[in-house]
Amino acid sequence: MNIVVTGGAGFIGSHMARRHLADGHRVVVVDNLSTGLQEKIPQGTRFVQADIADVDLEPLLREEKIDFVSHHAAQIDVRHSVSDPLFDARSNILGSLKLFEACRRAGTKHVLFSSTGGALYGEPEGGVPAPESHPTDPISPYGCAKLSIEKYLHYYRVIHGFQTQIFRYANVYGPGQNGMGEAGVVAIFCEAILHGKTPKIRGDGGQTRDYIYVGDLVRAAAAAVSTDRSGTWNLGTGKETSVNDLFREVARALDYDGKPEYTPLPPGEQRRSVLDSSKVRADLGLPDWTPLSQGLKETSAYFREKVKSEKQLETAPKG
Ligand SMILES: NC(=O)c1ccc[n+]([C@@H]2O[C@H](COP(=O)([O-])OP(=O)(O)OC[C@H]3O[C@@H](n4cnc5c(N)ncnc54)[C@H](O)[C@@H]3O)[C@@H](O)[C@H]2O)c1
Repeated sequence: MNIVVTGGAGFIGSHMARRHLADGHRVVVVDNLSTGLQEKIPQGTRFVQADIADVDLEPLLREEKIDFVSHHAAQIDVRHSVSDPLFDARSNILGSLKLFEACRRAGTKHVLFSSTGGALYGEPEGGVPAPESHPTDPISPYGCAKLSIEKYLHYYRVIHGFQTQIFRYANVYGPGQNGMGEAGVVAIFCEAILHGKTPKIRGDGGQTRDYIYVGDLVRAAAAAVSTDRSGTWNLGTGKETSVNDLFREVARALDYDGKPEYTPLPPGEQRRSVLDSSKVRADLGLPDWTPLSQGLKETSAYFREKVKSEKQLETAPKG
């Protein structure tokens, strides 16, 4: 198959691109490198540097005879979406719509979209974990954008015959995540510890999240490529982990015995978030989710190597 991965220079998209290549597909990555890095794009892919909100991708989709679009490009920072909702909407809503229109005109009708569970469902109602039928009342522009893109995909499926696969991710972690920003607490803890800084926890650390290993998403996407099903699926582990417990697990994986620093909780932070993902496992025939301890072992090993080579570069003689 011929596949476009938007956001393929980013954390999740680059893992997707690598797996599709390994499965024998041809892969084209489209990314504006706003948070992504060219070095993350796997060898063997074609790279097109473009902003999905600016560029009409119809000629590329036609030229490359693209069958499947894995749409992972997005402005992903929830707080940035609050401070600049127009920027968020341009990148996420208008960018996605421009992409889907290009798909419609080029006849590329199979689209997978990276949505979110936590930001759509908010504080869980009626018990945890939250299933796909949980009410969606986002309280951030980022969540509003994801929901509206899901609705557009519904329109393209019903009216234009698209095959649409919506993956509502929980909190994703794994090798290659960016630990410099505001999202991705596992990467942030790893980078802080390995750089000798005190890891920070917002609030009392009792807030819970559902941490899913990126390898599990990749397996789900590989299955999605080769099924003719459309659907909306949660991708989480169904297990709730507090930030304090997560910190202890990361510290154990990195042999760190320091204490975190607790900082004030920003307003609006969710207390609990955990997704019921039994539907995707049944529909796409997926194996058990990777246990947190195993995923953190792989992730901490990646960050150890990364920080080690950064330090070697810093101390290497210049010139
Ligand atoms: N990481 C998570 O826990 C998580 C959870 C839920 C949903 N998601 C979704 O998964 C997707 C990938 O997230 P990620 O964690 O890999 O983030 P990321 O920032 O590492 O990747 C996003 C990529 O998209 C590119 N990009 C951003 N805006 C673009 C634009 N307008 N045009 C072209 N490229 C653009 C960036 O350069 C980057 O390479 C996003 O859609 C995100 O909303 C992620």
